[in-house]
Amino acid sequence: MSDFIRPTRGRRTESLRRLAAETHLASGNLILPLFAVSGQGREEDIPSMPGIRRRSVDSLQRYVASLRSSAVLLFGVANVEQKDPAAAAAISPEGPVPKAIQAIKSERPDLLIITDVCLCGYTSHGHCGVLNSSLAVDNETTLDILGRMAVLHAQAGADIVAPSAMMDSQVRVIRQALDKAGLCDTGIMSYAAKFASAFYGPFRDAAHSSPAFGDRRSHQLPVANRREAIRDALLDEGQGADWLMVKPALPYLDVLHELRDATRLPLAAYQVSGEYAMIKAAAAAGAFPEQDAAMESLLCIRRAGADAVISYFAEEACQWLED
Ligand code: PBG
Repeated sequence: MSDFIRPTRGRRTESLRRLAAETHLASGNLILPLFAVSGQGREEDIPSMPGIRRRSVDSLQRYVASLRSSAVLLFGVANVEQKDPAAAAAISPEGPVPKAIQAIKSERPDLLIITDVCLCGYTSHGHCGVLNSSLAVDNETTLDILGRMAVLHAQAGADIVAPSAMMDSQVRVIRQALDKAGLCDTGIMSYAAKFASAFYGPFRDAAHSSPAFGDRRSHQLPVANRREAIRDALLDEGQGADWLMVKPALPYLDVLHELRDATRLPLAAYQVSGEYAMIKAAAAAGAFPEQDAAMESLLCIRRAGADAVISYFAEEACQWLED
């Protein structure tokens, strides 16, 4: 005999399902990563990330004119000849990031600009900080450069800076540097729980930022550790972060969910390059319709606790949400 309690009663029609929907995805939740390079008229495909391009400042300005996304996360990629062991290009006012911020803001003052603050796109060795004599990342020297880089971005007009180098105390040092420069309104979105993940592969292609030797396991989080991730994230909250981020997203939804319960700060999750590439490749191989898989993944990241989702699908998703 069938039960009188019938959960499927509420799932019969689209309007019933919509009435009880617990999670929504809106274009306002999405952040689109952009890659800025120097030069003129440059638009370069990234083979492992179909649809995503590195662009020079003039090209970025044209690109954002009709952008549907309401927020972008800006990465700078230095040319090989601009890179050095001390990442000098990271703090050059003539670099592609400060220039791109100004160009984007003049074209689209309404667009929220978040900038990545890390040295890996600027060091000749590809590490996220400068190295000491034993070729390990030197936390304290790196902090000083990160602070200056954040001030440079904020002065150019960035709304939020996003430190991703995973150096100890980076949020505190950046907050102090911003405040000292009178930039109290610039927010900090901390890549608080950033794991030493294989899913960054395509990004390192895009940013030419693979470490020349070694890896990032001395500073990024161990894949196996959830408690350690929560501890690290809460430290960043104590240092003055306005946002916390979990990265990558889909393989780390448990961390996102637990962090949602551990803090009252808004949370972002980064659907990273490898996650994007997997969906693109599987869809191209006929495994599933790309839009369905992409939108499902974004909604699931929201369900796990993300307020904002950083995704290479952001622009397409805004289009799909409009249709
Ligand atoms: C810089 C940085 C990385 C990503 C964002 N910021 C790469 C890394 O840590 O090697 C990865 C983003 C992505 O894969 O989409 N530290």
